[in-house]
Amino acid sequence: MRVLGIETSCDETGVAIYDSQQGVIADVLFSQVELHAQFGGVVPELASRDHVRRLLPLVDQVLRESDLKPQDLDAIAHTAGPGLVGALLVGSTLANALAWSWDLPVVPVHHMEGHLLAPLLEEGSADFPFVALLVSGGHTQLVAVQAVGQYQLLGESLDDAAGEAFDKTAKMLGLGYPGGPAVAKAALQGDCARHRFPRPMTDRPGLDFSFSGLKTHTLVLANSLRNADGEISEADIADVCAGFEEAVADTLTIKCRRALEQTGMQRLVLAGGVAANQRLREKLAAQSSKRGWQLFYPRLKFCTDNGAMIAYAGACRLAEARRDYRVEVFPRKPMDELRPPGEASEARA
Ligand code: KG4
Ligand code: ZN
Repeated sequence: MRVLGIETSCDETGVAIYDSQQGVIADVLFSQVELHAQFGGVVPELASRDHVRRLLPLVDQVLRESDLKPQDLDAIAHTAGPGLVGALLVGSTLANALAWSWDLPVVPVHHMEGHLLAPLLEEGSADFPFVALLVSGGHTQLVAVQAVGQYQLLGESLDDAAGEAFDKTAKMLGLGYPGGPAVAKAALQGDCARHRFPRPMTDRPGLDFSFSGLKTHTLVLANSLRNADGEISEADIADVCAGFEEAVADTLTIKCRRALEQTGMQRLVLAGGVAANQRLREKLAAQSSKRGWQLFYPRLKFCTDNGAMIAYAGACRLAEARRDYRVEVFPRKPMDELRPPGEASEARA
C-alpha cells in the first residue's frame, strides 16, 4: 500500500510517498524560509502563493524519484489543519484534484497527528502506549497516546508555544527567522548560568505550560545589556540564548517527568520542530537513562514540517479515505477531537 502525502500548513511545501512494506520511499521539501526571512516571520498570503508554485513540480519529483506512476498509489493524504487557511486550501485543492483525476481516494490528515506519528517512522520505534511531547511553532502539548487516534491531552501551553518563544526571542535579539535554530546556534557559544531565568509553572502541580513570561523576562534582560546606542554584543546575545534555551529545555523536561509519573508510562516520544533542539534531546536523554524510560524522536528532517509524516499518518488512517473530492480544511481543530481510524467516518455516514 502506498500513500502520497502533501504538507502545506505553513511555510514548507512537503511531498512524500510512504510504502507500507518499504517505509518512506521518496521525500522532498521546499522551504520558504528565504521568502519570509525579510519580513521576520511567515506572511500567510505569500506562503499560499508559493505553495501553488511549488506543489505540482514536487509531486512530479517524488513520482520520478520513486519510479512510480499515479496508478501505483493507493491514496493521497494532505494536511487539512491546523495551519494557515490559505496554505491548507492549496494542499487540499491539489490533493482532491489529483485524486479525482487519478481515481484515488483522499485522506485529510491532522498536522499534529502527523508530528506525533513521525517518530514511528524510525526503526525500532515506540510501541503504544506512550507519552508524547509535541513541541512546534504553534503547539506545546503533552499527550497520552494509547493507539492511533486515542489521544488524551495531559497539558498544553496557555499562551506561546515553545517554538514561538524561540522565534520571538530570536527576533528581539536580531537573530532573524526561523528563530529556533538561530537561538540554538548562538547558545552554543554562551554561558547558560550567567543569568537567572525562570522555569515557568514548575513550582506548582499540573502539566500546562506558559512561555510568554519567559519571553518577557528575556526581553527585559536583553534590554538591560544594551549600550547607549541600543546595541548588544555577540557575547551577551550568546549568554542570553544559552540561558533561555536551558530554561525551556528544563521546563519541558520537568513536565515530561511529571507526565510519565502521572500516567505510569515508561515511553516518551518527542516530536515537532523544537524536537530538533539538541539541548532538549540531551536533557531528556539524561533523565531517561536515570529513570529507566525509553526515549524516541524522529530523525532531524522529520521533526520540522515534512510530507513523510503526512503520508504516514494518511496510511494509518486509510480506513477514512474518501472519494467525495470535497475541499475541506480545519485551521483550528484540537487533536483530542480525533478518533481511532475509521470511527470518525462511520459517525459521519
Ligand atoms: O513543527 P514545525 O516545523 O512547524 C509547526 O508545525 O509549527 O516547527 C517549527 C518550530 C519553529 O518555531 C522553529 O523555531 C522551531 O520549531 N525549531 C527549533 C529548532 N528547529 C526548529 N526550536 C529550537 N531548536 C531547534 N533546533
Ligand atoms: Zn508542524
